[in-house]
Amino acid sequence: MIEIFANAHELARGAAEYFVARSGEAVARKGLFTVAMSGGSTPKLLYELLVDAQVPWAKTHFFWSDERHVPPDHPDSNYRMAYEALLSKVPVPEGNVHRMHGENPDAAEAAAEYEQTLLPLDLILLGLGTDGHTASIFPSSDVLHETKRLVAATWVEKLNTYRITMTLPLLNSGAAVLFLVSGAEKAQIVKEVIEGPPKYPAQFVQPAHGQLLWMLDEDAAAKTRISRKGAK
Ligand code: 6PG
Repeated sequence: MIEIFANAHELARGAAEYFVARSGEAVARKGLFTVAMSGGSTPKLLYELLVDAQVPWAKTHFFWSDERHVPPDHPDSNYRMAYEALLSKVPVPEGNVHRMHGENPDAAEAAAEYEQTLLPLDLILLGLGTDGHTASIFPSSDVLHETKRLVAATWVEKLNTYRITMTLPLLNSGAAVLFLVSGAEKAQIVKEVIEGPPKYPAQFVQPAHGQLLWMLDEDAAAKTRISRKGAK
């Protein structure tokens, strides 16, 4: 399913509504809500909007779909971004925040340890890079073909660093996967990923039994066949 919003703010508002609805549904059904947060810049607006939203914080568990190989107070830390934009401003019990330990010099060890902390995921938030990567699964990345491990460390040559990432088997086990994509610089890759043959990592996110939802702003959707027709 694809939803197009007029701009980045409307996109964040639509995503916040969806987040709140999924959280309420999960808590009503099983007493807790589990969400994997995405990194990068696009979700920041969503996280800021959620501060005042009706989310059952005490019953919500936060995970990350990927992390940079840096400490939690580093400017590049995905955890830090979510902490500053949201988690530091809402009453989430510390024990409900399950961050990837990007500070561990041994990224593979951090990934293996993180796999032991996982709970079944009700909602997985993902972004899309202009090269078609999602989480930290990059084109030609060794983890693209991972079939066993749920979390892995991967060396990203072009960034000259390791990343820790949820793998496709885990991403495809989510009850709902939400891609958030914003901005004109993403329009070409959005067209190729949504309308083109499968070749980019993001295209291999196909939840086996879950919902797959793309939320785009008009600029990101501009080159797709559905642009403007579906604008809200
Ligand atoms: C990360 C992300 C990554 C991100 C895309 C899009 O750690 O960088 O998880 O997959 O979602 O690179 O990033 P932007 O939202 O900044 O364009």
